[in-house]
Amino acid sequence: MSLLNMRTTCFMAVILWLTTGSTRCQTPIPNVHGGLGAVLGVSNASVLLQDPSSETLYLGARGSILALHTSNLTWKHSSIKWEATEEERKSCMGKVKREDDCYNYICLLEVLKDGRIYVCGSYAYNPQCAFIDPVTFVLVKEGGDKVKMENGKGKCPYDPRQPHTAVTADGVLYTASPSNFLGTMYDITRATGQEVHVHQSINWLSDPEFVSSALVRESPGDDDKIYFFFMENALEYDLYTKVRVTRVARVCKGDMGGSKTLQKRWTSFLKAQLVCQDRDSGQHYTVLTHAYPLEHRLGDPSSTHFYTLFTSQGKGERVSAVCVYSLADITKVFATGGFRDMKRNCVNSGNSESVPDPRPGQCINNVLRAQGYNSSFDMPDRVLQFAKEHPLLTNTVDAAPLLVRRGTTYTRITATNISNSDAALLHLGTDQGE
Ligand SMILES: *[C@@H]1O[C@H](CO)[C@@H](O)[C@H](O)[C@H]1NC(C)=O
Ligand SMILES: *[C@@H]1O[C@H](CO)[C@@H](O)[C@H](O)[C@H]1NC(C)=O
Ligand SMILES: *[C@@H]1O[C@H](CO)[C@@H](O)[C@H](O)[C@H]1NC(C)=O
Ligand SMILES: *[C@@H]1O[C@H](CO)[C@@H](O)[C@H](O)[C@H]1NC(C)=O
Repeated sequence: MSLLNMRTTCFMAVILWLTTGSTRCQTPIPNVHGGLGAVLGVSNASVLLQDPSSETLYLGARGSILALHTSNLTWKHSSIKWEATEEERKSCMGKVKREDDCYNYICLLEVLKDGRIYVCGSYAYNPQCAFIDPVTFVLVKEGGDKVKMENGKGKCPYDPRQPHTAVTADGVLYTASPSNFLGTMYDITRATGQEVHVHQSINWLSDPEFVSSALVRESPGDDDKIYFFFMENALEYDLYTKVRVTRVARVCKGDMGGSKTLQKRWTSFLKAQLVCQDRDSGQHYTVLTHAYPLEHRLGDPSSTHFYTLFTSQGKGERVSAVCVYSLADITKVFATGGFRDMKRNCVNSGNSESVPDPRPGQCINNVLRAQGYNSSFDMPDRVLQFAKEHPLLTNTVDAAPLLVRRGTTYTRITATNISNSDAALLHLGTDQGE
């Protein structure tokens, strides 16, 4: 079956997706994917994964996973059916309000180190993950005909409507997701390989909505880093009214956690506020909807910029804005900015304690190695204790909108470079499937 004769709007939207190299979206876009899904005979399509090496576009939907040729968007294999069992569905229906939520909504598709595709689904409010053999395109089985599954808690939300994000670095999976049935607990975790978490008992996150994630390679010399973009309550402003702000956070790929303090927790978790504000009108854009990284000059990580989409908060006219943040600006805040004291969280408490040495939250780089810090296990307790209590930097990362559109809600952004220049071509998708 060919998708090329679909309605033009749907087709355009697909092309936007295909231009992005490794494409993923973690929250449903009803019109785009409804349209595409309808053509393909699936519902609630929500995750895309492009594998450039095999020229395959994978699509996760409700209870099924599809594989298409990227060149002509025809079926490459027949689809995989992966549904929650009848018992699971019954048990779910007894617990949640909407029966419709008691299906297996695919929420994550990523390629693992061994080449298998990792797939997770909400599995009737009991998230599960499984493995797909990319050659035969079937779910990997164990003990006869049983699908090999593992717990998907913390990788995908129980509630298929809750936002979450995932990214792989060298085949290792990093996820940011609600992690309990009620959707009130959250985790940013290395979900395969050596597990490291944000732990709920450490107040590093406040009611976050995860939006996007990205790998930035800075090795050799420095460590590679995983960036997370999300919204959360700003506890630093006021303890009594809820202020939602946009954050960028990052962890280091080589972070193994501490040896005493912060065992199996990130030692390199740092976060800062992203501000998208029009300097002339003072208009703030506060609701982050998507972020996309672009390395402008191939092999030069310092040329990386994050292209982000915002909408303005509140009622009235819908306004979308594109703000661009350079990796250099974000790195500067993380590497030199003041730390906010979260423990004694009085309003606008600045930075009172002196910052220990080595500076908390650093990745193990050549400079630290030369000082004898070979891994995060070697970090002194006083440094990790400080890191634990000071995840937030006082400085914000500021940008003015590159583009503002009224009456349009953009939901997705990608950017492609123009022949090694600093210019970029933006590809924007709207909530109307255009
Ligand atoms: C699945 O799609 C249907 C039809 O678009 C929609 O009504 C429903 O809310 C979706 N369910 C989820 C969990 O997204
Ligand atoms: C689509 O492309 C694939 C590989 O690029 C090819 O094998 C297949 O025959 C094509 N299908 C059609 C209908 O053109
Ligand atoms: C940027 O574009 C040029 C030419 O189009 C290409 O050769 C180069 O690999 C691109 N760089 C990145 C980082 O994609
Ligand atoms: C770090 O590695 C070097 C060289 O491998 C070794 O000499 C040193 O003792 C190590 N430091 C620690 C703290 O383990």
